Amino acid sequence: MPVTASAPGKLMLFGEHAVVYRYPCIVTAVDLRYSVTVEQVADPIITIDTPVMRKYDQSFSAPIETILRQTNYPKAAAFVLAAVKQFHNRNPFDGGLSIRTDGPEVSYGLGSSSAVTVASIAALAEQFKVTAPLGEIYTMAVEAVLEVQGKGSGFDVASAVYGGTLYFAKGGREIEPLEVPDLPIVIGFSGDKVSTTNLIDQVSGLMARNPETVEGIFKVMNEIVWQAQRFLDLQDWAGLGDLMNINQGLLDALGVSTSQLAKQVFAARKAGAFGAKLSGAGGGDCMFALVDPGKKQAVCEAIEESGGILVSLDTGVNGVRIEPIQ
Ligand code: MEV
Repeated sequence: MPVTASAPGKLMLFGEHAVVYRYPCIVTAVDLRYSVTVEQVADPIITIDTPVMRKYDQSFSAPIETILRQTNYPKAAAFVLAAVKQFHNRNPFDGGLSIRTDGPEVSYGLGSSSAVTVASIAALAEQFKVTAPLGEIYTMAVEAVLEVQGKGSGFDVASAVYGGTLYFAKGGREIEPLEVPDLPIVIGFSGDKVSTTNLIDQVSGLMARNPETVEGIFKVMNEIVWQAQRFLDLQDWAGLGDLMNINQGLLDALGVSTSQLAKQVFAARKAGAFGAKLSGAGGGDCMFALVDPGKKQAVCEAIEESGGILVSLDTGVNGVRIEPIQ
């Protein structure tokens, strides 16, 4: 019997890059959901079918033995294969698998890899009737993501597992849910994209050349995360907007903003947003602005006029879950 699990994408609110150095961040899960359907088959073969593969009438297929020995996976199926390997290492099984992934065609850099990895592990656990508490799904998924990407803090995996809005620190030793309402935000996609690993390397190069200065930036980001929790709690949007603007300035100082992102950020502020900043690694992808409902229309238009694509998503949505049988 096939089993389907789904997990959400994420929007980093505060603390990107600093979180790679164990500083805290705040992330919210967004309703860009990815699902993975797993079915056991008798032959020891893994078949994977993703939306991109379907578009080109392709699928991936390989003997499970090969996958378990492999470290360099084909890009289109890498996160699913790494998830299968992590699961199999802890819960060896016989036979093979037929796996299908579904989700939005454009992921906007909002955490599709971590969502697919987390959903894969949850679906495998359900398929093999293995009790996997969320903490264990998180651990397996972080290892899978690190196997593929080599770097990353794991905050995106935590968001896909637990959902809601999270405080995440110390490399995942501290993960705490925050009581936050659906946020009055507008998201703009800037289009271009540099790989997250390259941006992490770029910041690490800057850190090596200017250790005290970059450490100083991270310490201010840490302060922002603490203040932000207070403002989120009070729903003090003006206060939170200020922190977004300061955080954006610091990300610019780290060299990860782009002229396209900056254009959208400035346009949103000019149109009346409380604050605006990029979200995630930078180098492209998304920015978001915090807006009063009365200014929403003007901010949306300003983002679009400056070349952004509006992405409308709810925040603080549920984490990984098993979907009802169709
Ligand atoms: C990427 O979305 C955020 C970074 O902090 C990387 C990470 O934490 O894994 C740049």
